[in-house]
Amino acid sequence: MSERNPHSPEHIAIIMDGNGRWAREKGLPRRDGHRAGAESVREVVETCKELKIKFLTLFAFSSENWSRPRTEVQALMALLREFLKKKIPEMSKQGVRLHAIGRLHDLPEDCQEALNSAIAETSSNTALDLILALSYGAREEIVDAARQIACEAAAGHLDPESIDSNSIATRLYTAGIPDPDLLIRTSGECRISNFLLWQISYAEIVITDKFWPDFKAADLRQAIDEYARRNRRFGAI
Ligand code: FPP
Repeated sequence: MSERNPHSPEHIAIIMDGNGRWAREKGLPRRDGHRAGAESVREVVETCKELKIKFLTLFAFSSENWSRPRTEVQALMALLREFLKKKIPEMSKQGVRLHAIGRLHDLPEDCQEALNSAIAETSSNTALDLILALSYGAREEIVDAARQIACEAAAGHLDPESIDSNSIATRLYTAGIPDPDLLIRTSGECRISNFLLWQISYAEIVITDKFWPDFKAADLRQAIDEYARRNRRFGAI
């Protein structure tokens, strides 16, 4: 297969929105929308692999999502368990390496265990790095990095005068992962919703009206085509 198109993004991040509205339009319970959303995840991962995208970050569960009704949180955790058990082994065969970012210690213990074993089992794969944002909030991530820096400075291991943007980037959950080039949000909402605030400083943003369960390979290709037409200047002229 051919090498990655130089105009295509190395790292795509996606705010997968609209599962609930997709379900409501069809007269289905919200959990069916999330289940259909998991199918889009499978298709998008497969397409990223085909297109030689190197990193894909998916906003699967936000810090704010804990405030949803208990039954919906439970349904999302059940889907996560199922995804890790059934989909990750298939993805692993295709060379997907799993990572997770967020306050993972807030997840139910069995989810943490399943996550850790999926991460370990896929750790030597190299085709596509799939990063699941779980119990993730960008402000919380920056707070955690700031705390770490403060502790290191208080212990005398870090000179406050030496702190620069790299000192922060290397203490975020995404340390070592390049910033996203393209951020996609589905369902027409024009918001960032506390997702990767630091990392998307120069990302190109594509918003599509489609609900996440309707977002398929062709929609991903279309977003990448739009990205390829953009002129990225990074603040220069
Ligand atoms: C937003 O839709 C989506 C979520 C809160 C969760 C995303 C989860 C999935 C796509 C399925 C599971 C994925 C994995 C990786 C296991 P919404 O509920 O906010 O939709 P609405 O705005 O229309 O109500």
